[in-house]
Amino acid sequence: MTTTTQDAASALFTDLTGHAPEGVWSAPGRVNLIGEHTDYNDGFVLPFAIPHRTVAAVGPRDDRRIRVAPTFADEPVEVALDELDELFPTPTGTAPRVPEWAAYPLGVAWALRQADGVAPSAATGSGLDIAIASDVPVGAGLSSSAAIEGATASALNDLWAAGLDRTALARVGRKAENEAVGAPTGIMDQMASMLGEPDAAIFLDCRSLDANLVQVGIAEAGLAILVMDTRVKHAHSTGGYGERRAACERGAAIMGAESLRDVSVDDLPRAEELMDDVTFRRVRHVVTENQRVLDTVRVLRDEGARAIGDLLVASHASMRDDFEISIPELDTAVEAALAAGAIGARMTGGGFGGAAIALIEQHAVQQVTDAVTAAFAASGFADPVIFTVTTSAGAHRDA
Ligand code: GLA
Repeated sequence: MTTTTQDAASALFTDLTGHAPEGVWSAPGRVNLIGEHTDYNDGFVLPFAIPHRTVAAVGPRDDRRIRVAPTFADEPVEVALDELDELFPTPTGTAPRVPEWAAYPLGVAWALRQADGVAPSAATGSGLDIAIASDVPVGAGLSSSAAIEGATASALNDLWAAGLDRTALARVGRKAENEAVGAPTGIMDQMASMLGEPDAAIFLDCRSLDANLVQVGIAEAGLAILVMDTRVKHAHSTGGYGERRAACERGAAIMGAESLRDVSVDDLPRAEELMDDVTFRRVRHVVTENQRVLDTVRVLRDEGARAIGDLLVASHASMRDDFEISIPELDTAVEAALAAGAIGARMTGGGFGGAAIALIEQHAVQQVTDAVTAAFAASGFADPVIFTVTTSAGAHRDA
């Protein structure tokens, strides 16, 4: 996050209210190193928080109303606290009753008031003004939505004295995303945004929500992670994401398993006999991806970051061929990065657009950037936006 983002949120708050905010909270976007579409299958993921953050400047009001104002929308949205239960949940298949961006912070307020252990009190009855600024690219697969949820949830948790821990706040964010925004996502992004630590990725078991920090040692090995944003926007509240999720549930049911977490690589020959080709390939992606996460964690610990390249490449191939969530721009980014010497590369996030990552030598940043940019131009794609990221801190109070 730049100080500018923090300043922008505080300045907007002051414009809106005529006084300074009570506090400023922020939460990061994330890159997923490996483990895609495994989270809602009770599986494993290995994301890390990135330096890009969303900032919420917040202060209390005494009229039981909530007003949210982001720098990226023209008009603030204001509702009474008591209206939140009428606004949410958003009926399945319909758009939220507020502008979609406002469903994130207002959905968090709604979900937090319902969370286990949060009793109605004078604190949770106080209204709020919330000004939001962000430097997490939107629609790039870097979890700009989890960053809004994390910043808002952290602020409300403090100002409403709700006392929830980070995992509970991640659940609040996910509930907002699923039920207020209407995107049927898993919990990886919210956990990464809440639990991120500098120098580490988060090895998360999405069934138990046990999170272990894994030292990735990328900079120490002389390496860097390059994000290649295709600028093809995606949304998970519509279309392909939900269809993939339904295919996974179908596959688990055919295998008599509670979720695909309970299906192993050794079960795949039987799965192939029992399922149609498409369902089988969706299942094979998730089952092999879970194994790749476990392998990546082991290889990182035993051999270091230089040794995980093949796992990243295999993950991308599985998403391209079996899960079918890649797009030509993502494939081009991955192929051009590898051809320019990247150790490994894969699309990251939910797919259908967004960004790919490449693990590269630190000294090769310009070379790989130029090669990917040239490959996009040769294919007639819009220029990608390419930058490096480092493992960064999770949600916290800034001021
Ligand atoms: C999106 C969702 C996550 C996860 C990824 C795919 O980012 O928000 O829950 O399912 O896609 O791994």
